[in-house]
Amino acid sequence: MTERNAHPHLDCSGRLALIHNGIVSNYGPLRERLGRAGHRFTSETDTEVVAHLVEECLAAIPEGPERLLRATIAAFRKLRGMNAIALLDAERNQLAAAKSGSPLVLGWGDGAHLLASDHGALLEHTRRVTFVEDGQAALVTADGHRLFDAATGGELVPAVTELVGGTRMGDRAGHPDFMTKEMHEQPEVLRRMARDGAEHARRLAERIGAARKVYAIGCGTAGYAALSAQYLLAGIGHRRVAATPASEFAHIVPFLDKTSLVLTFSQSGETIDVIEAARGAQAQGARVAAIANVEGSSLWRLADDAFPLDAGPEQCVLSTKSFTAKLALLVLTGHALAGRLPEGQSLVAAAADEVERMLEGERRAQLGRIADAIQDREHLFVIGRGPSYPLALETALKVKEVSYIHAEGFAAGELKHGVIALVEKGTPCVALAPRDDTYDDVMGGAMQVRARGAHVIGVSPEPHEAFDEHIQVAHLGWAASIVNAVPAQLLGYDLARRRGHDPDKPRNLAKSVTVK
Ligand code: BG6
Repeated sequence: MTERNAHPHLDCSGRLALIHNGIVSNYGPLRERLGRAGHRFTSETDTEVVAHLVEECLAAIPEGPERLLRATIAAFRKLRGMNAIALLDAERNQLAAAKSGSPLVLGWGDGAHLLASDHGALLEHTRRVTFVEDGQAALVTADGHRLFDAATGGELVPAVTELVGGTRMGDRAGHPDFMTKEMHEQPEVLRRMARDGAEHARRLAERIGAARKVYAIGCGTAGYAALSAQYLLAGIGHRRVAATPASEFAHIVPFLDKTSLVLTFSQSGETIDVIEAARGAQAQGARVAAIANVEGSSLWRLADDAFPLDAGPEQCVLSTKSFTAKLALLVLTGHALAGRLPEGQSLVAAAADEVERMLEGERRAQLGRIADAIQDREHLFVIGRGPSYPLALETALKVKEVSYIHAEGFAAGELKHGVIALVEKGTPCVALAPRDDTYDDVMGGAMQVRARGAHVIGVSPEPHEAFDEHIQVAHLGWAASIVNAVPAQLLGYDLARRRGHDPDKPRNLAKSVTVK
């Protein structure tokens, strides 16, 4: 990001200031035409084009209290792509905004009228919000908010929602960064899920029981929670669930019908690929369940059923506590399907205790020493089988996202079919080896990479000669995935710190991806 391309962007007069979320896919021809008409651009961004387009539309609209709004609507109609724009005209003391795709929320404060792209940012001012829907525009003045249909220009009555859940964006609570704070909140989040999640698990199990075909989707870390659903709900609840990255789900949508259920996993509830997939599914008559951390988010409002993770605000770009909360809800739901919910609750409660122990003490220090030893490596591999396969992918993602080491997770059975060619002397290989029916095969894989010179880091209840490093974790059956997620978070964190990177703001990544 350069200073020149940073928001807000101004029009030629410098009077209009615009901020924008999204991608204006037709900004090229618009820029060219506005350039020929004499507009001068100071950046290479699509966003600045919109500021000049509003300036052009403004010139064609007679003076009046709604002039800025009408110009914003006129300009917005000429944009292609998924966008949310907000324009400030300081001289008029007015804000005008419009959206299609990217989130936009109005806040009704005492004596303050606010606008944000995420309702979490409004919570310290008000809990009374209006979610701006696609194709709507808003005018914000000192007198309040007005809402309009951007297609017809007609005025609408704003629906005001009183936010119940959701907690104000917090500070780091004495931790060096949000990643550390949120990792340390996991024991409490898991205990809360074990205690209060039973009802949600029962409801979700009922929905799954009523469906003929069940699918699970998500992106990034949430995509690995969706893949975990495939293993955990099959293994514990004996239900077939087909997991797919949300961005690839369009190929499956045509096969959905009203007997289908789509489990959508998302921390923010604003990830565009998940929202688009959910809309496509509903268009086929399928039912959509949202497993999300942000109540009131676009996915939450769109879904037929919503299941809270109640993990509190997650501000670090990397997803930690909301991931383990998703796994905990899946462990409970699998046990609800099997009619053994109390057993699932005790497992999740035991996982909370084990996570708490792992965040401190000798094992915490051990991960630091492992990071010291491998911080200059360029490649790292992670193997796992069954429910540990999605964890292998998540472990690699945690290392990649924040340390920028090339890390790859894969199903241990795929080792011999190519990947093992990448292993050389000292290559760090993490082996996720819970004491379940995958143990022997994973250990077979660990010995094969060790034989090629790999530095094997075993995450397992028991030591093994194949391990150069052994991170001992409690034997927790189906809750092993919850516990095994934490060494991945800590290793990624320690590698990032040792390589001088800010764990909260990894390069090129955003907390939620609201544009395609
Ligand atoms: C990415 C985040 O942008 O989106 C990841 O950096 C996250 O941490 C992914 O897993 C999906 O986000 P969400 O909000 O849909 O879970």
